Amino acid sequence: MVHRKVKKKFRCIVLVCLLFATICVWKDMKKGDEYDSLQLRRKEFQASKSLQKKIVDSNFRSVSSNSIQDTLRGKQDLRRLRGPSKTKLENSHLVWNRDSSSKNINPKLKNVWKYYLKLNKYNVSYKGPGPGVKFSAESLSCHLRDRVNVSMVDASDFPFNTSEWKGFLPKENIRTMTRLWGQCAVVSSAGSLKSSQLGPEIDDHDAILRFNAAPTDNFQLDVGTKTTIRLMNSQLVKGQRFLKDSLYNEGILVVWDPSVYHSDIPKWYKNPEYGFFENYKSYRKLHPNQPFYILKPQMPWELWDILQEMAPEEIQPNPPSSGMLGIILMMTLCDQVDIYEFLPSMRKTDLCHYYGKFFDTACTMGSYHPLLYEKNLVKFLNQGTDADIYILGKATLLGFQNICC
Ligand SMILES: *[C@@H]1O[C@H](CO)[C@@H](O)[C@H](O)[C@H]1NC(C)=O
Ligand SMILES: *[C@@H]1O[C@H](CO)[C@@H](O)[C@H](O)[C@H]1NC(C)=O
Ligand SMILES: *[C@@H]1O[C@H](CO)[C@@H](O)[C@H](O)[C@H]1NC(C)=O
Repeated sequence: MVHRKVKKKFRCIVLVCLLFATICVWKDMKKGDEYDSLQLRRKEFQASKSLQKKIVDSNFRSVSSNSIQDTLRGKQDLRRLRGPSKTKLENSHLVWNRDSSSKNINPKLKNVWKYYLKLNKYNVSYKGPGPGVKFSAESLSCHLRDRVNVSMVDASDFPFNTSEWKGFLPKENIRTMTRLWGQCAVVSSAGSLKSSQLGPEIDDHDAILRFNAAPTDNFQLDVGTKTTIRLMNSQLVKGQRFLKDSLYNEGILVVWDPSVYHSDIPKWYKNPEYGFFENYKSYRKLHPNQPFYILKPQMPWELWDILQEMAPEEIQPNPPSSGMLGIILMMTLCDQVDIYEFLPSMRKTDLCHYYGKFFDTACTMGSYHPLLYEKNLVKFLNQGTDADIYILGKATLLGFQNICC
């Protein structure tokens, strides 16, 4: 009797062990699968690139029936590699072309671009060199570092030095607060982050910057969980929800507001685009220990000047996007900056935000902001590979501390 009981127990233990071992092996295999599929996609990318080159080359070859057949076959192969795609192969690029211009946008967006040129809402009167000035990547980095003053409004800047503002601005400088972060991630809000499964890779950074109302809840697998710093526009801070939503209670906050072209702080203060100052003060009273900075209004225009200098044509006379401002901010605070889905990956979509439902090509190609030229700049400075852009949507830029000028 006792003997039988022990036997039964022993059988149970063996069974449990076996089950456990099976699960372990299966999990490992799955991991291996994921890794293999990433490697395969990298290989496919290289193969499709060399195929595309072949196709381009063969288009220039003298037209013999043979080479036409080759071209057709090549196109079919390429289509198979890329999966179903409605874009015409002739106009499609696997990754962002760093020489993009208004020639690459659709007629509707071109009209919007012309409309903003005429409107000149911010009284832009650019007198610098260009357009079309050529830089090396090194000299461009130095130019950005030396000409774009990334600093926050502080308590000595009139009128923030008056009694009305006493105690509201953070006392500590943002640079001493962050010391110098190592590897940083800038996570765009692009729709193409959806189903990217980049969450663990993004969370692996020392600091993570997000924009405006971008959430992590319900999207952790694609965008990660941490928020170290959040860059917001003044429209959002002025809004009703800003004081109530706990989304904003994590990390360092930074707000920016567009001024008239190269306006100084006193002039901007009298005429901000969105008067967010009262809400700023209310938030500070509610959360006095959370660092919350106001970007100096000159910074976006200092950056805009460089975008205009390099661009092949006149650019929208509107401030750069929050995305571009966040990239430059992190280049001043970090050793290295990985930027996710600012240059679109193979998941490129017209879906504007990964957490939204709105579709518009303008969200990738730009209408109000000079997005096209911002993306050209990031592509030009990218230290990573085209495969990383295509597969991960990742561009890697060096922090300003790590460049020699
Ligand atoms: C823009 O410039 C025009 C003409 O120079 C001037 O009348 C106008 O007040 C300026 N607008 C702003 C917002 O400064
Ligand atoms: C940048 O800002 C700091 C602090 O406001 C100022 O001292 C410095 O002169 C500025 N540099 C440039 C190039 O504008
Ligand atoms: C604030 O700054 C302005 C300009 O620098 C200066 O004239 C003024 O005296 C300062 N006010 C106070 C209260 O320190």
